Amino acid sequence: MERFSENAIRVLEARYLLRDSEGALIETPEEMFHRVADAVALAEQSFADAKTAERYAEEFFDLLSKREFLPNSPTLMNAGTPLGQLSACFVLPVEDSMPEIFESLKLMALIQQAGGGTGFSFSRLRPRGDLVKKTGGQASGPISFMRIFDCATENIRQGGKRRGANMGVLRIDHPDVRDFIGAKLDGVSFQNFNLSVGITDAFMQATQKNEPFAFVHPGSGQATETIPAGELLQSIAEAAWKTGDPGMIFMDAINRENPTPQLGAIEATNPCGEVPLLPYEACNLGSINVSRMVRKDATGYFIDWKKLSDTTRLSLRFLDNVIEVCRWPDSRIAEMVRGNRKVGLGVMGFAELLILLEIPYGSDQSVRLAEELMQYIAAEALAASQQLAEERGVFPNWEKSIYAAKGIRLRNATRTSIAPTGTIGIIAGTSAGIEPLFALAYRREHVLGEQTLVEVNPLFLRYAEQYGLQSQKLKDDLQCLGSLSKLTGVPAEVKALFRTALEIAPEDHLRIQAAFQKHVDNAVSKTVNLPESASVETIAEIYRRAWEMGLKGVTVYRYGSKGQQVLYLGTGE
Ligand code: CDP
Repeated sequence: MERFSENAIRVLEARYLLRDSEGALIETPEEMFHRVADAVALAEQSFADAKTAERYAEEFFDLLSKREFLPNSPTLMNAGTPLGQLSACFVLPVEDSMPEIFESLKLMALIQQAGGGTGFSFSRLRPRGDLVKKTGGQASGPISFMRIFDCATENIRQGGKRRGANMGVLRIDHPDVRDFIGAKLDGVSFQNFNLSVGITDAFMQATQKNEPFAFVHPGSGQATETIPAGELLQSIAEAAWKTGDPGMIFMDAINRENPTPQLGAIEATNPCGEVPLLPYEACNLGSINVSRMVRKDATGYFIDWKKLSDTTRLSLRFLDNVIEVCRWPDSRIAEMVRGNRKVGLGVMGFAELLILLEIPYGSDQSVRLAEELMQYIAAEALAASQQLAEERGVFPNWEKSIYAAKGIRLRNATRTSIAPTGTIGIIAGTSAGIEPLFALAYRREHVLGEQTLVEVNPLFLRYAEQYGLQSQKLKDDLQCLGSLSKLTGVPAEVKALFRTALEIAPEDHLRIQAAFQKHVDNAVSKTVNLPESASVETIAEIYRRAWEMGLKGVTVYRYGSKGQQVLYLGTGE
C-alpha cells in the first residue's frame, strides 16, 4: 500500500486506528481499511449473497487503500465496531417548549458521543422577554438556550476522539437576531458553534432597495419592530469581520431544491453547512480524491474520465451501503434517514488537480473545469442511484418527492455535497475539499493540540524540481512568508499557479463555489478567505454577490480574526 504522510500517520494513530482496553494500538492503516470495507460491504448481503459481499469488500478496500475515495470520519472510526454510528451530519428540531428543548439536548449528546455533528434552527423559540404562560415569568430567548447546548458540547468529547461541532441557525426576521449576530463577539462564547443567519430573499431584496425590514414573532406571526435592512446586513458583516461568525445560509435557495417539500421546509444545516437537512435527518458523506483521477502522457496530466465514472459509481454504492449498516442513536432518526436515504458524495484535492493540470485556481478555465467536473460526477452519481433503485428499490419517501413527478426513480433523495474534508484530506494527503492551497508553508494548529510546522508543500517541491526552481533560499523564504507572491526570481505563471487562498480575489472564490453548487444537490462547504486588511464593505459585498449567484450559504474568514485559528501562514520569522 502507498505510504502515508507523517501528518496522516499521526492523525490515524491518534484518532482512527483501534486500540485495546489498555490503549495499545491493535490495527494498522491497512487493517483499518479492511475493517471499513468489510463492514460496509456486508450491506450487500441484504440484497444479494455472501459472494457479492465478498467481491465488494475487495473493491471497497481497493478504493479506500488507494485513497481515491474516503468516507467521512465517523465511518472510518466506527465501521465494524460496536459503536457503528457512521454519519457526520445531523439536524435536530428545537421546538418552543422545555421538554422538547431538553429532548433535543439529550439527542445531541448521544449523537456527539458517537462522532456526529449537529445542526439546529433556534428560530421557533419565542424571543427573550416574552411571556411564559405557565410561570408568568419571562422567556430567556434562543441565545440563552443555545448556551446550554454549547456547554453540553464542551463536556462531551465526540466518541473520545474529536471536538463536538454544532451549527446554530436563527432566521433574519427573528426578534432576537441582533443578539445572535453578536453572540461570539466576546471571543469566549459559543466556541462549539458555527453560527449562520437564515437569510430570506425578502431580506436581501429589502437591502437592495434600502427598505425597512420587519422582525416577526415566531409564535403569533405578528411584526414586532422594523429596522433598515441595510443596517442589519452591515452588522452581520461587522461581526464576521471581527470573528468569522456568523455565516449566512440562504433559506429560499435551499428550499427551492428541497427534494421532499411535502415532508416539511428545511430550516438548518449540519455544522459546516454542506448538508441542509430536515429535523431528525442525517447524512453520510464521502469524497473522491480528484487529484488521483488523472493520467499522464508526454504532454502532461489529463483527467481520466472513465476512472472518475467508475470511482463515482462505486463510491455512491458505498455510501448507500453505509445507510444500511449504520446504527442510529434514536428511532426517529433511523426512520427519517431510511425514508430519504440522503448521501453526500463530493470531492477533495481540487486545488491539487488544478496544479497538476497547470490551471490557476480562480481563472476562467478553473471555473469551467469545476463545472464540468461536478456536472460529470453528479450525472454519474444520479445514474448510480437509479441503478441502485432498480436493484434495491426507490427511497421510501420517493412518492412524496420531487422525483416522483419527474418519473426519475432514485435510491437517494440527494447524492452530492462538498464537505470540508478537514481530516480525511490529511489522510488522503491532498488539498481540502474544493479549497485553494492555504499556504505553501504553514503551521497547523494540530487537531491534537500541538503545533506542527509542515514544511514546504510537497506538490510545490515536486513542481519546483521539475522546473529547476529549487534552492535552499527559495525554501527558506517560503517557510517564512508562506507564499510565492513576494519572492523575486519566480516566473509569473508559477506564482499564478501557486496562488494561495488569501491571494485569490473574493469574487473568484465565489465563482468556484457557484460552479460546484450548480451541480451539487446538497450544498458546498467553502470559505472565502480574506487578508487581514480586508474591509467590512468587502464582506457585505461578498454577501450580496453570494446571494445573486444563487449560493446556498456563504462563510468568510479574515486572516487573524479568530483568537486561535487552525492554519498560520509560514513562520513569519
Ligand atoms: O474530514 P472529516 O470527514 O473528518 O470531516 P469534514 O469533511 O471536515 O466535516 C464534515 C462534517 O463532519 C462537518 O460538516 C460536521 O457535520 C462533521 N464534523 C463534526 O461533527 N465534528 C468535527 N470536529 C468536524 C466535523
